[in-house]
Amino acid sequence: MQAYRLVERVSEAEVAARVRDLAEEIDRDYEGKDVVLIGVLKGAFVFLADLIRNLRVPVEVDFVRLASYGAAAESSGCIRLTKDVEARLEGRDVLIVEDIVDTGVTVDWMLKHLKQHGPRSIKVCTLIDKFECRRCAVPVDYAGIRISGGFVVGYGLDFAEKHRGLKGIYEVEFLNDGSGGAAP
Ligand code: PRP
Ligand code: MN
Ligand code: MG
Repeated sequence: MQAYRLVERVSEAEVAARVRDLAEEIDRDYEGKDVVLIGVLKGAFVFLADLIRNLRVPVEVDFVRLASYGAAAESSGCIRLTKDVEARLEGRDVLIVEDIVDTGVTVDWMLKHLKQHGPRSIKVCTLIDKFECRRCAVPVDYAGIRISGGFVVGYGLDFAEKHRGLKGIYEVEFLNDGSGGAAP
């Protein structure tokens, strides 16, 4: 694998502040509703864990496991579902929780999939909105941090399954490996 280094994009304190802001917004909008948060594994588990500890509205938590990136830094565009939702969603207010919306392919797939369960409403909450990179136009109802460009890791996000445990968000900066090939 090509050598790279990690450069901080968003500090731990900034991430924590944005998570608190999102929780406040969700508390306001979902008061008195029957909320189900659906985290998209694996990336969303860190954000979801912090989000629910900042929320005051009662929520049920569920997960699906989807993957499209594998070990690559670019989406394959092909989604694999390896664990489906287990909660009953009919007539309930569903909020999809993602670590990042990039091309939008994952959220687009999720929205179509979950609509078949007949929820009363369905919205999208993401910590990071990489808004310039859409291949599918998807609604993002709650976004903590809007970033452009770069492949980012940390706080649940991986590069070839590494770096999910970092407390802030870091950009992967590929280095010239000395063999004469230019870094992308
Ligand atoms: C990442 C990320 C999002 C999705 C966003 O998941 O966690 O789920 O890609 O990209 P998109 O908007 O281009 O679809 P990944 O497929 O890497 O699986 P992981 O969560 O297990 O890392
Ligand atoms: Mn993911
Ligand atoms: Mg990934």
